[in-house]
Amino acid sequence: MKICTTIKDIRAAVAEMSKQGTVGLVTTMGALHAGHMALVKAASNAHSNVVATIFVNPTQFGNPADLETYPRTETQDLAMLKAAGVAAVFMPQVAEMYPDGDETIVETTGLAHVFHGLVRPGHYRGVATVVTKLFNIVGANAAYFGEKDYQQLAVIRRMVRDLHAPIEIHGVPTVREADGLAMSSRNVRLTPDHRAAAPILVTALAAAEALLRSGETIETAADAIRATIATEPLADLVAVDIVDPTTFAPATGTPNGSIGIMLSAQFGDVLLIDQKEITL
Ligand code: PAF
Repeated sequence: MKICTTIKDIRAAVAEMSKQGTVGLVTTMGALHAGHMALVKAASNAHSNVVATIFVNPTQFGNPADLETYPRTETQDLAMLKAAGVAAVFMPQVAEMYPDGDETIVETTGLAHVFHGLVRPGHYRGVATVVTKLFNIVGANAAYFGEKDYQQLAVIRRMVRDLHAPIEIHGVPTVREADGLAMSSRNVRLTPDHRAAAPILVTALAAAEALLRSGETIETAADAIRATIATEPLADLVAVDIVDPTTFAPATGTPNGSIGIMLSAQFGDVLLIDQKEITL
């Protein structure tokens, strides 16, 4: 497995790979877990070679303390990627990604500012900007993103469509712990008490799903989520949004077809998100 820290080196590595067939890309901020490895597996199943990136992107963190404490487990990450057969890893320094005088940003002006974007101002601008840079640097045929970050996936799909970026985007289902908690690099920062409380997110999503499947309205389902989270004293609900998964318009009334339920809650210092898409 090649480890590249410069744009020049990763481009040369991908140029070699492209002679053998297509290249799949998995972008990460490291602290890899089974959720990331599911992305690598989906990419490996479809492409001759897989490139992974590890870059803790400063522009998507609103809170400097969050950036500072973001888990970094580089040695273990590289071992996992190597064992999974990844051909090359791009792990640049900040100055390589954001050269001196850098002033260009990428933003989905509507999608970045609704739902989770309201509670994390600037977050999706940072994501769209760094993902565009990574797409331009690596030049892969397709990229794989987790469905857990439901709005992120929607932002990236919209950006690729609007900018005519020559890359296919694939969503990969959320990987969960035995108790249902969605895998996330942030889970390791939970205290044991907060970790024990965190599956309330899945309980709340299940309560909303059951109500919607029994013909109740979106408003009733959203109330059930709020009531379920309120039963857990260690969880502070941040946002609940129920949307049309294609347009991302807020859903209302009795849904018919697919809807996406997005949920975020604070457990101590750690913000966790979860989602469920259901078809009625
Ligand atoms: O999902 C993530 O890990 C990050 O938001 C991404 C897509 C790698 C951009 O920094």
